[in-house]
Amino acid sequence: MKTSSIAYSLVAATLASAQRPTNTSICDYYTTALLKDNNAANQQTLLTLLVNTAVIGNYTQPNVGIAVPGILANGTGDFQGVSLIQYFDGMLLSTNDNGMPASVNFLDGGGAAPLMMNMPANNTSSAQYTLLTHLYEYFAYLTGCTIYGNTVHPYDGDTNMYEVHKYMNIDENEFKYFITQVGLSAASFGVAAADVNAIGMALNNAFGYKCSAPASIPASAAPAPQAICIADDCPLAPNATCSDYAPAMEPATATMISTMTATMAPVMNGTTYGNMTSTPRPTMSGTMVPYPGPIVNGTMSGSMMSAPAPVMTGTMAPPPAPIMTGPMMGNASMTASSTPASYTGAAGSVSPAIFAVGAIAAGVFAAVL
Ligand code: HEM
Repeated sequence: MKTSSIAYSLVAATLASAQRPTNTSICDYYTTALLKDNNAANQQTLLTLLVNTAVIGNYTQPNVGIAVPGILANGTGDFQGVSLIQYFDGMLLSTNDNGMPASVNFLDGGGAAPLMMNMPANNTSSAQYTLLTHLYEYFAYLTGCTIYGNTVHPYDGDTNMYEVHKYMNIDENEFKYFITQVGLSAASFGVAAADVNAIGMALNNAFGYKCSAPASIPASAAPAPQAICIADDCPLAPNATCSDYAPAMEPATATMISTMTATMAPVMNGTTYGNMTSTPRPTMSGTMVPYPGPIVNGTMSGSMMSAPAPVMTGTMAPPPAPIMTGPMMGNASMTASSTPASYTGAAGSVSPAIFAVGAIAAGVFAAVL
């Protein structure tokens, strides 16, 4: 296994900017240029602006009039057909969850709203918070922040970018779209073209070649495979060590398993004729099928006997309740298979005669006796 311990910090980028001294990192230089004091808090603010804008597009000043669509927006023009949001919203089984592809919603901390307020998420327990804060720290390292992402809040996420992204099967267009948004974001804050190019080149070199040899990013980390662009159309690294990579596979679409639980109970409407006699209580027998037709239309005939007279207390119309429409006549019996969920209403007595006319009988008559 070939390894190299190349530090990909852009502080070492040799592309000279018109303004930036070569011994000052991109992070430190633009923190001073944009936010005046080069301290940990301002460096963090710079990285928050850079990453949040790259993710959701322009939302704040300072902005020099460069439009940034954002990583979550669908690609247009050369990037027509690119849709990176599906890797972030749980649509795909594309997250590496302890070696298994899983669906994770990384927009679970409020989505774009907190980002527009220069925050990573609304709550620290969200996957969104972890992702965004890791991106701030990681890109702080890449852009050479001397304090934030270094001695203050050093990156504590996974240092193996291949493992993090392996189930996404990112192709060249997707990868280029992502780094273009990072570059546009930087440019929108006035970062000089030479520095924007330096950022783009460093990202491309470090993560844009399939089978690239393991490298240490950050420099203190153990060497690990770093290729993020791993689909068939990605360029092969000159120093390719494909044995360090598993065959790339398209992520599957996550299936939403939702369970609907409903109780459908028939309602009986209509008129019943006859006598109700019960010793000790009347019984209806028969089956009321709740699905697909919870409404039973037809004729019920028979007699219900009660001695002493049945007493109904409360209202027998709990929703959902069995519906039965039609007269009840003749000789038959019926048992409802669903019982009323509850009986509510004022306590009272309903004589069998009253009940027998236009009664709404829910469930088993017997239950109330
Ligand atoms: C230069 C390119 C890229 C860099 C430097 C980069 C960097 C990172 C970093 C540092 C993390 C956090 C890892 C952790 O928390 O342990 C991450 C996670 C993630 N990246 Fe990238 N990324 C790049 C390209 C992409 C692309 C093209 C996509 C495609 C949509 C993508 C999607 C994601 C997703 C969904 C996560 C969350 C994965 C997880 O936490 O399991 N990244 N990336």
